[in-house]
Amino acid sequence: MQADAADLGLTIYISSGFRSYDYQAGLYQRYVERDGKEAADRYSARPGYSEHQSGLAFDLNTITDDFKDTDEGRWVAENCYKYGFIIRYPADKEDVTGYMYEPWHIRYLGTEIAEDVYSSGLCLEEYLGITSEYAE
Ligand code: DAL
Ligand code: ZN
Repeated sequence: MQADAADLGLTIYISSGFRSYDYQAGLYQRYVERDGKEAADRYSARPGYSEHQSGLAFDLNTITDDFKDTDEGRWVAENCYKYGFIIRYPADKEDVTGYMYEPWHIRYLGTEIAEDVYSSGLCLEEYLGITSEYAE
């Protein structure tokens, strides 16, 4: 995917890939201290719940909303399914995924399912018929 993007003059890099439990715990803790738990829960998974801990999720390029308006962000959104990835937390799905839109966060599902999810227009929870709420 990175090589195909480069052929088109686009630069894609991984800014966050696999995270250990301890790393996610530190990250989440810092966000809670900075923004409070309610706000942090809208953009950060609690330790033990991040897809980054599975090694199947990657944050690409700049972790900012502006990524969606870059050539790279548009290309990733339209093409990542061909490489087995989906935009895991789409716009307007926060009430279902539990997370704000993250144009930079892609999740590997394999090409067959990724294409199916992409064509469906559903987020992964809707596609699988599951919820992602914390038990608390
Ligand atoms: N930002 C995503 C939800 C995570 O922390 O895994
Ligand atoms: Zn991420």
